Amino acid sequence: MILLDGKKTSEAIQQEIAAEVAEIKANGGKVPHLAAILVGNDGGSVTYVNNKVLACEKVGFGSTLVRYEDDVTEEELLSKIQELNESEEVDGFIVQLPLPKHINTQKVLEAVDPKKDVDGFHPANVGRMVAGLTSFLPATPYGILQLIERYGIETNGKHCVVIGRSNIVGSPMSILMAKAAYPGNATVTLCHRNTVDLPYYTRQADIIIAAVGLPGLVTADMVKEGAVVIDVGTTRVPDTSRKSGYRLRGDVDFDNVAPKCSYITPVPGGVGPLTIAMLLKNTLRAARKEVY
Ligand code: GUN
Repeated sequence: MILLDGKKTSEAIQQEIAAEVAEIKANGGKVPHLAAILVGNDGGSVTYVNNKVLACEKVGFGSTLVRYEDDVTEEELLSKIQELNESEEVDGFIVQLPLPKHINTQKVLEAVDPKKDVDGFHPANVGRMVAGLTSFLPATPYGILQLIERYGIETNGKHCVVIGRSNIVGSPMSILMAKAAYPGNATVTLCHRNTVDLPYYTRQADIIIAAVGLPGLVTADMVKEGAVVIDVGTTRVPDTSRKSGYRLRGDVDFDNVAPKCSYITPVPGGVGPLTIAMLLKNTLRAARKEVY
């Protein structure tokens, strides 16, 4: 069993990006700049956004964090998005999700200029991805593709079972794994909460990608010997022995599943660390005008 080390892979990608930034600087070019909009004080979102800003500093990017209280109006948000769309300085930006209920998330995401949509959530980027055109890929699926590629995992002709159909992970992952490319060329089954007999599908899988947020959903009896298991779940569960009061649990019963696997991601330290690296990569691509 080989552990897919997301932390190490993420660091390698960030080093590659830092080297490119150094070269841009040496040539007198403008360094890439990422902005993030954060609404409210949700613990997870604050941590994620702070880590994104810190990662920018580490690779030499410029960064801007725009924070609002929970009661920000949709108009205020849309006006800030317009400002960032027009900014000469900002190459790409994200609006951290989830947003408060009184805000229309879809309207907000569609207000972002697709050229600066480094999360890849705008329908223009989603559509371009489906059509096989250059696009910004959402960070988590992009990170999973990097793990598969950098560990040389075979995907051609394999049966890939994706569990979860979210716009952020499951749906794009299922599309990308079926593309005529590497990583891709897989036969894909997309399972979700209405799937009858989930184990029937997972037992046939050469590659399982679990992205639902149900701790321990995938148990050993559901996994074929030699399967590749990629765990996107990061649910916070109470743990009084820790200072934070919680620990992260994946969708996979790691201890019992790992011995059956050829490759498996740990939680934490698997897919999670890659999302930041891929957001930086998308920002570099935006600055280099590689997509549009
Ligand atoms: N919330 C959970 N994941 C993400 C992400 O990848 N981007 C943004 N903007 N918000 C998120």
